[in-house]
Amino acid sequence: MSPQQFNQQRRDLLKSTCTLAGAAALWYRVSPDKIPAEIKDDTVEGIMAYSAVCTHLGCTLSNSLSNWDAATKQFLRPCHDALFDPLKEGANTGGATSRMLPHIPVSDKPSGYVGVKRG
Ligand code: FES
Repeated sequence: MSPQQFNQQRRDLLKSTCTLAGAAALWYRVSPDKIPAEIKDDTVEGIMAYSAVCTHLGCTLSNSLSNWDAATKQFLRPCHDALFDPLKEGANTGGATSRMLPHIPVSDKPSGYVGVKRG
């Protein structure tokens, strides 16, 4: 991936949500060496995705910074303050108790973008 493609993809990831069968995805990117081994095959160059539908009572989030806790570097659900750690496979780490946030496998696409992995 060229630096231009990387930057465009990063801008796209930050400013938008991805519509998936009526739901949305939260996108997250870190250095590839920080990705948990259990989900590494379902990420691309440090890019991973999680369901944006909260497992507590079903609130839906966007990729906006209001849904991100910068102090802990976790997804924050402001409805009941649930926290989900993208580096612990979406584990619920605080606030309202709920199941882990579902991880969405992603892969490289011929267009140069990253998308949902099929099959
Ligand atoms: S519905 Fe998301 S924290 Fe309660």
